[in-house]
Amino acid sequence: MVLKGGHALSVDWSRIDRYAKSLIKEAGHRIRISFYQHIDIETKADANDLVTNIDREIEQFFISHIKRDFPGHSILGEEGFGDEVNSLKGVVWMLDPIDGTMNFIHQKRNFAISLGIYSDGIGMLGYIYDVMRDEFYNAFRGEGAYLNDERIPALRKANLEEAVIGVNASWVAPNRYVDHEKMAELIHTCRGTRSFGSAAIEIAYVATGRVDAYISMRLAPWDIAGGMIIASEVGAVASNLEGKPANLLGQDTFIIANPALHGRILHDFIRLKDRT
Ligand code: IPD
Ligand code: CA
Ligand code: CA
Repeated sequence: MVLKGGHALSVDWSRIDRYAKSLIKEAGHRIRISFYQHIDIETKADANDLVTNIDREIEQFFISHIKRDFPGHSILGEEGFGDEVNSLKGVVWMLDPIDGTMNFIHQKRNFAISLGIYSDGIGMLGYIYDVMRDEFYNAFRGEGAYLNDERIPALRKANLEEAVIGVNASWVAPNRYVDHEKMAELIHTCRGTRSFGSAAIEIAYVATGRVDAYISMRLAPWDIAGGMIIASEVGAVASNLEGKPANLLGQDTFIIANPALHGRILHDFIRLKDRT
């Protein structure tokens, strides 16, 4: 499809979609066979912020192909091999080569490749590949979201008392970001909570109704970029925890939820701390 109007005029999104899918499938294969080799584990910002040679190699694999075949596009990648992206102008690929590195190392499962492709800030193509379950989620703006080529149905109205919420226990213990006692109230009000250790998978689960909301105090653009495009196609609502548009240029708080829950969770249970 070549969209008319503005920047998108010369962009063949169907071609990019096919291209991105084949890169992701190949990257998934490379990750799976990496378990037969030695994996180097290093730490980044702190002792629990992990990265491996495989995270880096997979990012480089994507970037070398994208730069060669789409030289005019920008790439924001977690491991820093892409561009310094300070604006959403033009076509921007946002990539997390392995989302859930701690799971990748400790569990050899429950991690995903996450990719979102934006045009002047508008999400066009979104992908999440849960590599070990071989679950491939994708969306093309305006054309619905798919899981392994089967259309994901639109979300049906959820109610909080029967909802399952994706949240990490850190945010229900005292922390710098949010009133943890109100978070505890939320946990007691809903039916149950889950924490999967991969933001991309949790967002994919909101899109498929496996969980009804996912909340985090600290996510980066590459964690959410692909998932937001997929989840918005089925009616999920995303924002930061102030209710403003999710941040695609820097780290921020984040919620994505069934449309019937988003407003109530923010209004009744989220009290952000003043961190200025
Ligand atoms: C992390 C995972 C995790 C989330 C962290 C992210 P990484 O990504 O998505 O679930 O809680 O905030 O940084 O480092 O494994 O790509
Ligand atoms: Ca991540
Ligand atoms: Ca990562």
